[in-house]
Amino acid sequence: MITEENGVFHIQAERYSYLFKIDAYGLPEHVHFGAPVKTGDVAALSCRPGLGWGSNIVLKDGDPASCPDTLALEWSGSGRGDYRESPLELAGQSTDFRYSGYRIHEGSIPMVCGLPQAHGPSQTLELTLTQPGAELTLFYAAFPTAVVRRTVLKNTGSAPIRLNKLMSMSIDMPGSYRMVSFNGGWIAEMRRCDTPVGSAKVVNESLTGSSSNRHNPGFLLYEPGATEDAGRVYGFNLIYSGNHYAAAQQSLQNLTRVMQGINGSNFSRELQPGEAYETPEAVLCHSDAGFGGLSANMHAFVMDHVIPVYWRNRPRPVLYNSWEGCVFDFNQHRLLDLANRAKALGCELFVLDDGWFGQRNSDRAGLGDYTVNRKKLPEGLEGLSRRIREKGLEFGLWFEPESVNPDSDLYRAHPDWALTDDFPPVMGRNQLLLDLTKPEVRDYIVENVSRILDSAKISYVKWDMNRHSVALGVKAHDFILGLYDVLRRIFEPRPGILLESCSSGGNRFDLGMLCFSPQIWASDDTDPVERLTIQNGLSYLYPQSTVGAHVSAAPHGQTLRSTPLTTRGNVAYFGCLGYELDLKRLLPVEVKEIQEQIAFYKQYREVFQFGAFRRTELGWQVSDGTVTLAGVFHRLVHAAPGYERLRVKGLNPQADYRVTSLTQAIRVGQFGSLLKPVDPVNVKPNRTLLRIADRHVTSRSQTMTVSGAALCSGILLNPLFRGTGYDPNQPAKGDFSSDVYLIEELPAE
Ligand code: GLA
Repeated sequence: MITEENGVFHIQAERYSYLFKIDAYGLPEHVHFGAPVKTGDVAALSCRPGLGWGSNIVLKDGDPASCPDTLALEWSGSGRGDYRESPLELAGQSTDFRYSGYRIHEGSIPMVCGLPQAHGPSQTLELTLTQPGAELTLFYAAFPTAVVRRTVLKNTGSAPIRLNKLMSMSIDMPGSYRMVSFNGGWIAEMRRCDTPVGSAKVVNESLTGSSSNRHNPGFLLYEPGATEDAGRVYGFNLIYSGNHYAAAQQSLQNLTRVMQGINGSNFSRELQPGEAYETPEAVLCHSDAGFGGLSANMHAFVMDHVIPVYWRNRPRPVLYNSWEGCVFDFNQHRLLDLANRAKALGCELFVLDDGWFGQRNSDRAGLGDYTVNRKKLPEGLEGLSRRIREKGLEFGLWFEPESVNPDSDLYRAHPDWALTDDFPPVMGRNQLLLDLTKPEVRDYIVENVSRILDSAKISYVKWDMNRHSVALGVKAHDFILGLYDVLRRIFEPRPGILLESCSSGGNRFDLGMLCFSPQIWASDDTDPVERLTIQNGLSYLYPQSTVGAHVSAAPHGQTLRSTPLTTRGNVAYFGCLGYELDLKRLLPVEVKEIQEQIAFYKQYREVFQFGAFRRTELGWQVSDGTVTLAGVFHRLVHAAPGYERLRVKGLNPQADYRVTSLTQAIRVGQFGSLLKPVDPVNVKPNRTLLRIADRHVTSRSQTMTVSGAALCSGILLNPLFRGTGYDPNQPAKGDFSSDVYLIEELPAE
């Protein structure tokens, strides 16, 4: 609900209040964003400048309350006494926008510039500020767990205005904070980095043309002392996939100015009289229940208001993807053999990745072409799709429509369609981007992708993009607008196609892409130990149903690390599960274990994909209220491991729960010459017998009944292997082992 009373605006939801007021000078003063308060608290929560601060500039001589530099503001100008960073820059001009009016609308106000938008706010506030020749509109959309802001600048004068920067939002919050940003690069996405926000500015930005794997646009601010379960945390994100900018800086008055929007670097746009410019939407979230509370609010917002409505709470299929198993080396025969195996494992969707078109036998050629490689696929995509569907699998296909290899028919016909600058082209993965600002390029993509989707009954698309851009400023922004246009035209008429976006893994994991694609390939790094970091980073801002997570081969292709299949599955369960390895090379014991993994995941798929997610001391948990699944992940074992405690969050202390540790598949063969002490089956460790024994699996599953109170307090787990002999209750596990515990509420007696 949004209300206005004597210039005080109050956006209220069950979990938050967002309060600001128009002061005597027409400046919008920020008052409160946090736990619900009363509108009448406005005076108590407002800044009181007192006698003022010496050398400062005031709007009205003699009134220290008119010093913009010392006020908490919702928006601020430049050159008029506020010397903090301004969210708006007009070339060579001061800006001084003052309040002129407001309207409260039911629902949303559609954006007009082609950017994606969050859906389903209860109400939207339109606040208008003006200065001679220009009008600035601040929009505030009220969602149950977030406020979504954007800004529109309109030239109302008679001469052009040059706009150099316009942020989606700016807010001055009292207090001291630390910023959590999520940084990295290819195969190393989303590493949490904490930086104190003091009087030196902290910036989180991307300049690669994409939201990027270097600095995700989403970030947090927390009060020192905030923990996973308690304390004040704010979350910010941008519904945008291009160059972004966010800054936080604390003033002498202990006000922390936070702003976020499109990166202003090289960004300059002329607005003709009557013309307007609209920013992307910025998401603002709050929780006093620590990082966990903040993530729960962000997850709810993304699931309910960002991803396409059709996919809201719609279970995602278990998929098999051909990439890591085949790379470019496949033909129809091999794919159908893999499809048989994938079906026997329990997969529901078969995805043919890169390599099906043009001369695409390596990453040096073919991007831009859409002719099917008939040598590899003699019956075309239609034939392959039909045969795969006859096996009872859905069929999905990889595309990389935004790119072109110079060695392609498309480039030979239209070299001018490539996005270049004034210098000789610089290459990334042997490719260039197409210039999506050109309508004919967008039409080419829409026509070709749509034709293939319709002809081959494709129910899933992996939409990839594998290089950074050379486009700067407005061209970079227009490229992203072109991308959104293409995605809208292809996928809005086909809502049932599951779109998984990808950009060398997580190079474009952002809310803009999530408006079209309900899930995103999180990283090309599928090593489960690396994934613990990557998926954990994502979990702060993005729900697990948006995270593509696959089991791949061990030793792993990027780290050479060998990890148990159980752990590869256990990590991938906390996302949209898939398999991406050469199924022909699986041992029978591995086939059996994967069959069990997929059957288990299907049984609890809704809990894994849509359940309430929590980060815990030892890993992650998901819960639907009656079933909780808790993952416990180990890295390197110690020779004398201490007692380990499983502490479960959010259970009913009064209720009783059945706790089952899942069957552990342990390959007997891995013990080598240690077989005798660890296994009850007395197999001598010579090679032949070991190979026979290796077909057997030692399974241990344990069940106990425990109260919710004990589980919340933390129960002690069975001790890990200590090399002092065999004990069936002492699980023999090595490095990188893990467990998933199934915790079910028992009916009250
Ligand atoms: C990128 C993707 C991979 C795979 C390859 C295909 O690297 O991130 O998952 O699709 O391209 O070339």
